[in-house]
Amino acid sequence: MPARPSVVIVCPREFKFTDHAATVERPHLSDVAELTTAWLDFDAPFPTSVLDAHALILWHGPLVTAPVIAQLKNCRAIIRNGVGFDSVDVAAAVKAGIPVCNVPDYGTEEVADHAIALILALYRQLFPLDAVAKQLAWHIDVAPKMRRLRTQTLGLVGLGRIGTATALRAKAFGFRVVFYDPYAPAGTHKAVGIERVNSLAALLKIADTVSVHCPLSAETRGLIGEKEIAQMKPGSFLVNTARGDVVDKAPVFAALHSGHLAGAGLDVVENEPLRTVDEAATPNLICTCHAAFCSPEGMVEMRSTSAKIARAAVLGQPVWNRVN
Ligand code: NAI
Repeated sequence: MPARPSVVIVCPREFKFTDHAATVERPHLSDVAELTTAWLDFDAPFPTSVLDAHALILWHGPLVTAPVIAQLKNCRAIIRNGVGFDSVDVAAAVKAGIPVCNVPDYGTEEVADHAIALILALYRQLFPLDAVAKQLAWHIDVAPKMRRLRTQTLGLVGLGRIGTATALRAKAFGFRVVFYDPYAPAGTHKAVGIERVNSLAALLKIADTVSVHCPLSAETRGLIGEKEIAQMKPGSFLVNTARGDVVDKAPVFAALHSGHLAGAGLDVVENEPLRTVDEAATPNLICTCHAAFCSPEGMVEMRSTSAKIARAAVLGQPVWNRVN
């Protein structure tokens, strides 16, 4: 009887993945494949069990380089358990004819909720008021910042999955929602029922709050820098739940000190984490440790999606979420 195909979950040793039984993945795979987990040091060679696998499910590493890919004799899919796939040499995988897949949408709702949470925390001044109360004081110096949402314009940079989910939530709160996304198809504003502007400068000029939802790319690295911060309305808010390097942190922190920005909600920060006590003491800064994607439900969705793609791969069926 021919050996059953094998699927290996590859996990960096330092990563705290303690589900040794792979309880999420197993129900999707146990009838069609042998499922094992390989805990590897980042720079250790890949063992034969991994190199011989029919599908790989990768946590954050180790790197699947061109030399590793050249040794994958049976592999029908490399699946990144997550969004980013920079740990895989995608070009080498193309050359080897191996599909590379990811799970781009497991945190869409969570990140949109998180962006809205940051926006509401800024508008309702939750953290300054909490700090006052816990000093056993009881005053509302921050009242001028607590604007009625229905009078406010929310400007979204990027209207993909998360930007759209954020737009829909913001509409329910009464915001005027405007977006800038040079790649969104014509008519997107009609489909979502929001307004579109054709330049970042136009967005920055009219938004009371700017929320960033574009990917990090060569084009978007430093997209919001000193010049763009200066173009934002005095007293406006900035929120970033996308990638830290899309927004230059020095001008943001300077604008928070000067009061040009009334507040910032950053789930992600350039060169994260925060590096100094001074950075951490920046006034009116909320910072949330790149946790916007988090939810137990999202993790289960991510892992079961990866397992379902692996199942399709070992059965010779079409895989989905291909990035190559
Ligand atoms: P997506 O690919 O669905 O949407 C991104 C949108 O940005 C696209 O519509 C694209 O056209 C647009 N875009 C590209 N270049 C642009 C530019 N120069 N200016 C304006 N818009 C531009 O991605 P999705 O799922 O909405 O995720 C967005 C980003 O959120 C991801 O790339 C990722 O970096 C970040 N993210 C953050 C997480 C967190 O935990 N903080 C978790 C998941 C994603």
